[in-house]
Amino acid sequence: MKWYPIPGIDLNGLPFIKKVKVGGKSILIIGYENDLYALGSTCPHAGAELSGGWCKDGKLVCPFHRYTYNLQTGKGSPGQNDYIDSYPVEIRAGEVYVGIETFCDIVFKR
Ligand code: FES
Repeated sequence: MKWYPIPGIDLNGLPFIKKVKVGGKSILIIGYENDLYALGSTCPHAGAELSGGWCKDGKLVCPFHRYTYNLQTGKGSPGQNDYIDSYPVEIRAGEVYVGIETFCDIVFKR
């Protein structure tokens, strides 16, 4: 797992949804109810950009067709049978870091 610093996150500015490019991926850093989450930024239903969505009841809501995804796991709500990638987030010395699996992590997990 490689950890990437995400500059410019105002931890006092909750709630927020900020799209960042990190490790070759487009990721949403989401601040919601005093927690941080990191999810992929593309909706698996029809490819909408999720940064225009919002959070409700612990889920990220897609702005296109209102599909919802668990903020912690990225799992779609019952009946959707889909998910978005989720990433670990940590705060170190006041700075936000996102962890992304490397190729070696994936290969040696098997
Ligand atoms: S594109 Fe996101 S719910 Fe349809």
